[in-house]
Amino acid sequence: MTNGGSFEAIADFWDEQVGEEGDDFHRLLVRPALLRVLGDVSGLDVLDLGCANGATSRALADLGARVTGVDVSARLIELARQREAARPRGVRYLVGDAAHLPDLADASFDRITASMVLMDIEDAEGTIREVARLLRPGGRFVATLFHPCFQIPEGSSWLIEQDVTDEQWISVRVWRYREPFAASTIAKSGQPAPTMNYHRPLSWYALQLTANGLLIDALDEAYPDDAFAERFPDATVRRLSVIPAILVLGARKG
Ligand SMILES: C[S@@+](CC[C@H](N)C(=O)[O-])C[C@H]1O[C@@H](n2cnc3c(N)ncnc32)[C@H](O)[C@@H]1O
Repeated sequence: MTNGGSFEAIADFWDEQVGEEGDDFHRLLVRPALLRVLGDVSGLDVLDLGCANGATSRALADLGARVTGVDVSARLIELARQREAARPRGVRYLVGDAAHLPDLADASFDRITASMVLMDIEDAEGTIREVARLLRPGGRFVATLFHPCFQIPEGSSWLIEQDVTDEQWISVRVWRYREPFAASTIAKSGQPAPTMNYHRPLSWYALQLTANGLLIDALDEAYPDDAFAERFPDATVRRLSVIPAILVLGARKG
C-alpha cells in the first residue's frame, strides 16, 4: 500500500467531519468501549494504527500515554500534524502502511490500538503480524471495528418490522459472511468518494491473532449509553441497543 489508500481522496472531508475530538458516534460509542478494554495507558508507549487525523491519538495522549500515530494517508497525517502544532501534546505522527513499518523497532510499544481500522486495511494479516512484532512481551493490542457478524457493508442490513399491535421487531439480515470480501462504501453521508472496506469473519481475526502469538484477553461490544441516547435519534439508539454495530477485540502478547 503506497498510494495513500482510499482515505487519501477524502482526507480533508474526513478532518472536517471528525474535528479535534472525533465525531459523536466515535466519541460517544466507540471510544468508551476502546478505553474500557484498553485500561490505564498513563506512562505507556502506545502506537495508534490508522490514526487518521489523530482524534484517538490525542485522546490517548490526554490520558498520559506517549503516542505514535501511523496512517497510510499522507494528507491525513499532515492534518494531524497541523492539529498537533496548534495544540501540542507530544504525539509523533508517521506516514506508513500498518502492514509494513520497518522504521519502528521490534518490541517498542506497550499498547497498540486500531480504532475502526482493521476493516479498512487491505492487508490485515500483515498488520496483525506487525502488531506482534512491535509489542513488548506482555503488551496488548486493542481494536475496535464494525462488528463482522452484524455490520457488514454489502453483506448485511437492518430490518425494522411493526406488527398490528405496533410492536417493533429489530433484526439484522446477513447474506454474506463466511468468505472475506472487499466492498467500496460511503461511511459518512456527503463523503466525496467511496472508501474500501474489507470484510473478514470473526473466526478469521481469532485465527490470525492466535497464529501470531496474540492471545485474546477481551471480547466486548459497544452499546449506547445515556449520553449517546441524548445525541442520536431514538430509532438508532433502539437498533444499537439490541444488536451491536461495534466489536472490541483485546489480545496480549505472551
Ligand atoms: C475509519 S479511519 C480511522 C479512524 C481513526 N482511528 C480515529 O480514531 O479517528 C480508517 C483509517 O485507516 C487508514 N488506513 C487504511 N489502510 C491503512 C494501512 N494499510 N496502514 C495504515 N493506515 C491505514 C485510513 O487511511 C484511515 O485513516
